[in-house]
Amino acid sequence: TTGVITLDPGFMNTGSTTSAITYIDGDAGILRYRGYPIEQLAKSSTFLETSYLLIYGELPTQTELDAFTSRISRHTLLHEDLKRFFDGFPRDAHPMPVLSSAVSALSTFYQDGLDPFNTEQVELATVRLLAKLPTIAAYAYKKSIGQPLLYPDNSLGLVENFLRMSFGFPAEPYEVDPKMAKALDQLLILHADHEQNCSTSTVRLVGSSHANLFASVSAGINALFGPLHGGANQAVLEMLEKMRVEGGGVDAFVKRVKNKEPGVKLMGFGHRVYKNYDPRAALVKATADEVLADLGADDELLQLAKQLEEVALSDEYFISRKLYPNVDFYTGLIYKAMGFPTRMFTVLFALGRLPGWIAQWREMIADPTTKIGRPRQVYTGYAERDWTGMAER
Ligand code: SDX
Repeated sequence: TTGVITLDPGFMNTGSTTSAITYIDGDAGILRYRGYPIEQLAKSSTFLETSYLLIYGELPTQTELDAFTSRISRHTLLHEDLKRFFDGFPRDAHPMPVLSSAVSALSTFYQDGLDPFNTEQVELATVRLLAKLPTIAAYAYKKSIGQPLLYPDNSLGLVENFLRMSFGFPAEPYEVDPKMAKALDQLLILHADHEQNCSTSTVRLVGSSHANLFASVSAGINALFGPLHGGANQAVLEMLEKMRVEGGGVDAFVKRVKNKEPGVKLMGFGHRVYKNYDPRAALVKATADEVLADLGADDELLQLAKQLEEVALSDEYFISRKLYPNVDFYTGLIYKAMGFPTRMFTVLFALGRLPGWIAQWREMIADPTTKIGRPRQVYTGYAERDWTGMAER
């Protein structure tokens, strides 16, 4: 029932790991968090409830969820000195390095939450990260548009608070659009964990040296920033915008992809594990029409994305390479419709992935068999040779 499997010791040296958190079947397009299908969680759960499930392993009772929510709401403020960090960043700084810098700095402000083997300190660091990352993300956005930073309003939920801090102004009241909040809550659920992807593996590898949770998650944010990983949602919008501006349409672009022109990829397509349709992409696409209609989206880009998908899914080049849309293909269109600039898209991915990083780090730290990450290599350099003086070189 628990799916516990036994592994030969050799398995552990193959760069793989064991985990009880998330299950993916890349060929069947299956994704489950702690055994629960992503389709059910996206439909019926909330991001905070899913975060609790990933971190503690079970769906919370109402009492447990209320206590979790209340603990988080007591930590949404940043230390005033950390808030001043944002004055120092250049106006045009990309919000992802701002995010990783601020998260790394949390370990200087909250030194009572750094011991990976002190249960209370791990709990405190967990709640602080879940509470403060939305504030840090909203501040990174406000900084980039030169607007004042708003304090969190703890009468609001986590997602509503983030939207208010991102789009609200001190000069006037801001009403969070419940449809926007619900759509963002669902997108955060879809991003919450994904087994041993690049950024999660980074969090585990850094944590395996017994680095604290803040330092490990900061490293994960930097790994997610890459355009082949979390940065792809920004790259998809840039690809669609470029297609729209340059004209030529979908067929001309697909031709360039198939010709393997340098730097020309079908961003938002392909996956290291899914060799079938990413179940998350299917869920995002299913709600994209509804959400974009509600938010008055740029329908032209959505139609362009759908045309691109239709052409790619009927083209032998992509079919033979098992290239299907991944989670990043449609999400950017929704984020754009919400009012976020493309540079904030990967920040939104990080907000979603945070509970997964925390859950995976805690699982790794709590596992007594965990050893420090130390991948081996196949040496392809010179055989032994002698040093030569300058005259012989
Ligand atoms: C995420 O791991 C995770 O779980 C990640 C993630 C998560 O939730 O954490 O799911 C989130 O990162 C999703 C992926 C987002 N990235 C992109 O959309 C960027 C574009 N996609 C790729 O660059 C690529 O598909 C990868 C990196 C995602 C996966 O690459 P693979 O599986 O290693 O495939 P590959 O590089 O070995 O390519 C196989 C073939 C090659 O062609 P040939 O050399 O065999 O002729 O497919 C081609 C590649 O050139 N190919 C693509 C392509 N992806 C692969 N060709 C065009 N466009 C693409 N997107």
